[in-house]
Amino acid sequence: MQKKLPCTFLSLGLALTFGTCQAEALTASDWQRELNLKPGGDTGQGRMIYEQRGCAGCHGTDAQTDNPQWPVLAGQRPLYVYKMLLDYQAGRLQSADAAIMGSLAQSLNREEIADIAEWVGSLPRPASPQAAEPVILGGDRQRLIPPCSACHGAQGQGWDLQPALLGQHRDYLGKALRRFKSGERDNDVNAGMSQFAKKLSDEEIRALADYYGR
Ligand code: HEC
Ligand code: HEC
Repeated sequence: MQKKLPCTFLSLGLALTFGTCQAEALTASDWQRELNLKPGGDTGQGRMIYEQRGCAGCHGTDAQTDNPQWPVLAGQRPLYVYKMLLDYQAGRLQSADAAIMGSLAQSLNREEIADIAEWVGSLPRPASPQAAEPVILGGDRQRLIPPCSACHGAQGQGWDLQPALLGQHRDYLGKALRRFKSGERDNDVNAGMSQFAKKLSDEEIRALADYYGR
C-alpha cells in the first residue's frame, strides 16, 4: 500500500510534487467538530441539488439504482451520507471508485451536502430478499467480534453514523468489507468498523453480503 502523506501538503500546494496525498481518517473529536458545523439539511433543496449535479445519472432518480456498481442511497442514514461525502471530498478513501466520487463531491459545500443527505435519507429503502442467517451475524466472543446488529440495528436499518446495510447491493457490501479488511478503506472513525472486518474470513464476508444485500 502507498505510504500516507499528511494532507497539509495539499494546502501548501505541494501535492503535485509529492504525488498522491491520502487524508487520515477523522478522529472522534474531528467528527464531533464536523457534527457541530453540520447544517440542518432541507429535503426540497436536496432533491434539487441531487438532480442538478447529475447524481441521478448513476444512483438513479429514486436513489435506488439497479446497477450493482453504484450504491443505493435511498433510506441511507443522513449522518453517514454526510460523512461519506466529506470523506470523498477530502480524499479519505483511496479506491478508483472513490476517486470518481471525490471529483463529483468537490464543488459541494456543507449546506448542499447536508441537504442531499437529508433528501436521500427520507426516501424509502428497497427491501432485501430473506436470506439464511450466517453464524457470524451474532458475532464471535472468541475473536471479539460483536454482533453486526449492535451497531447496524436489528434489521440492518442502520443508526446515526452506522450505515443501513439491508437493501444495499450485495456486491457493494462485499467490496466495502473486503476493503476494510485489506486496509484499502480506512476512513472509519477510530477504526470502528475495520477492526472487525480484519477478523472476518472471505467466506464470512460473502455470507454477510448475501444476507444483508440484494
Ligand atoms: C459516475 C457515477 C456516479 C455519479 C454521477 C455519482 N456517484 Fe456517488 N458513487 C459512485 C460510486 C461508484 C460509488 C462507490 C464508491 C466507493 O466504492 O467508495 C459512489 C458512492 C457514493 C456514496 C457512498 C454510499 C455508501 O453507502 O457508502 C454517496 C453518499 C454518494 N455516492 C453520493 C453521490 C452524490 C450526492 C452524487 C451527486 C453529487 C453522486 N454520488 C454522483 C458513482 C457515482
Ligand atoms: C462497533 C460498531 C460496528 C459493528 C459491530 C459493525 N459495524 Fe459495520 N460499520 C460501522 C460504522 C461506524 C461504519 C461506517 C464507517 C465509515 O465511516 O465509513 C460501518 C460500515 C459498514 C459497511 C460499509 C457500508 C457502506 O455503505 O459502505 C459495511 C458493509 C458494514 N459496516 C458491515 C458490517 C457487518 C457485516 C458487521 C458484522 C460483522 C458490522 N458491520 C459490524 C460500525 C460497526
